[in-house]
Amino acid sequence: MSIKLAVLVSGRGSNMAAILEAISENRLDARVQLVISNNADAPALETAATFGVPSRAVASKGLSRLEHERLVIEQLSQFDLDFVVLAGYMRILTPWFLGHFKERAGYYKVINIHPSLLPAFPGKSAYEDAFAYGVRLSGITVHLVDNEVDHGPILAQEVFPRLPDDSLESFKARGLAVEHKLYPQVLESISRQGIKLLPTHSTGVAQ
Ligand code: GRF
Repeated sequence: MSIKLAVLVSGRGSNMAAILEAISENRLDARVQLVISNNADAPALETAATFGVPSRAVASKGLSRLEHERLVIEQLSQFDLDFVVLAGYMRILTPWFLGHFKERAGYYKVINIHPSLLPAFPGKSAYEDAFAYGVRLSGITVHLVDNEVDHGPILAQEVFPRLPDDSLESFKARGLAVEHKLYPQVLESISRQGIKLLPTHSTGVAQ
């Protein structure tokens, strides 16, 4: 089944681009209905336009979290969406926002990619933190979003090594290449077979 997505971004948008590329190359059966950035200067907005995907800036600056989320929901509710995909969206979502996407099975239909093997190194400097810690293996996690930051049922993880000669830059570049492969793959698997959680998974969302 083709899945209908909205992608939320804040900056560069390379994961968004990887998703749009996979769609345009028929590796992913999905349609991105809308890209929203909370930052009007995000390069991601221009990239979305080059793929012919509607994009809007909904600036968060100067607004309270809820004021901003109301505006985002106003935009999103104009579309019939299967999932909201976070791709470098640097905002913490409130339970009010997430509540708009609650699925009967008890999870939110909101997906995130995080550049560490969660639950290790949550937060916005995961590459830096894992590198500084001296991990020999790191990885990428794609997960459903719940009410905690960088937390929720894990959909997929892929490991990559830190090599002895790595600089932070080469370490990040290796991870980013994994991100760009993994995110479209996970979305494609969802479009084919829906969300498959492990039996032991708690959705982290109150029923
Ligand atoms: C990625 O590393 C992603 O895992 C993290 O933020 C970064 C966004 O990069 N959540 P981009 O905007 O997709 O290029």
